[in-house]
Amino acid sequence: MKVSVVLGTRPEIIKMSPLIRELEKRDVDFNVVHSGQHYDDEVSGIFFRQLELDEPDRYLSVGSGSQGEQTGRALMKLEKAFQELGTEIVLVQGDTNTVLAGALAGVKMGLTVGHVEAGLRSYDYRMPEEYNRRLADHSSHLLFAPTEECSETLKNESVWGDIHITGNTVIDACIQNMDIAEKNADLSFEVPEKFVLVTAHRAENVDDPNVQENFIETFRAMDIPMIYPIHPRAEERFKMNDNLKRLKDIENMKLVPPQGYLEFLLLMKESEFIITDSGGIQEEATAPNIRKKVLVLRESTERPEAVEAGYCTVVGTKKEKMIKEIEDLKKEAWSPDKSPYGNGKAAEKIVDILERYKQEPYEASSHM
Ligand code: UD1
Ligand code: UDP
Repeated sequence: MKVSVVLGTRPEIIKMSPLIRELEKRDVDFNVVHSGQHYDDEVSGIFFRQLELDEPDRYLSVGSGSQGEQTGRALMKLEKAFQELGTEIVLVQGDTNTVLAGALAGVKMGLTVGHVEAGLRSYDYRMPEEYNRRLADHSSHLLFAPTEECSETLKNESVWGDIHITGNTVIDACIQNMDIAEKNADLSFEVPEKFVLVTAHRAENVDDPNVQENFIETFRAMDIPMIYPIHPRAEERFKMNDNLKRLKDIENMKLVPPQGYLEFLLLMKESEFIITDSGGIQEEATAPNIRKKVLVLRESTERPEAVEAGYCTVVGTKKEKMIKEIEDLKKEAWSPDKSPYGNGKAAEKIVDILERYKQEPYEASSHM
């Protein structure tokens, strides 16, 4: 069982790290292939160091580009890497272009593909991620669904592969790293006693000048300090519209570079609440050692479980609604429930399934 763990962006490195640890622990023959979709140290290298991961076995330097260009380059380079490495099982995680390329390269070579975080759907067809996750699910033999709801979605879509409910490895990562964060996080700026943590980077938000304007107006209306570690995409897009300076000049806004994982864990834990369009942060907020309310700056979410459990509220991207929801939140008494994303043992469950699979390889499909 020669496993290739494919990753390429910040959230994939974080969410694959518990799985890499578990594969190491059980002496599985595996390697790590980094597509190079994210390449700056602040969104890639730092996570390898902080999570104490070995250098990837292959680094493919795919880099940035249009959707097709980036996905196509990754597909070609991943195919070559799997050939060289003698890959039998490809593991991809999430919904990035790297994931789609990894799943396609795998099925086209007749390899077994496992999709970690399968079955999420936003039904927002503006999002490149929605196509990536759907196509990856329908190209996978092993589908690791984080929740019962995701598993139902996959059954309703009659995916060919075998569905397993495992929880989400992001909870494993939070549990494994929070103590380390509390000891070692090295924040290079002053953190106010009370603050709101902000992130926004989704293409359908930051690539749209109207949404940028709505965000700026909303942040201007905030009467509590905000810390916004700005993603490279968002920084570039705000700058293109001459909005970066306007964002920086907002009175309560502290705009800081993307943070390492340890620093970001601590910021989530210490914040009053979180305003974000991130996917992973919606899940992390439900971790037993974080438990924070999240206002989701989007029109939809592929994480309805976090909404149902009371952690997340989808507030859209119109300034009146965003401002009203922030005001309402200050009045709201809230007692968090347990995480819908599992108990921190997702990686163990996934490797159990892989080891069982080794004895009894996949047969197409029980769900057709
Ligand atoms: C990608 C994923 C998104 C995920 C995010 C995680 C897709 C379609 N999108 O979005 O789902 O939430 O990663 O953070 O796969 N850039 C840099 N340095 C880097 C990488 C990117 O400056 O190391 C800048 C470049 O200007 C680039 C832009 O960010 O054009 C976008 O990068 P890209 O990888 O295409 O998508 P993300 O927006 O990062
Ligand atoms: N994160 C981080 N530093 C930051 C912002 C986010 O380490 O400055 C982590 C965060 O804890 C989460 C992941 O990055 O695990 C989320 O990544 P992102 O929001 O870029 O992508 P998404 O989850 O939306 O795909």
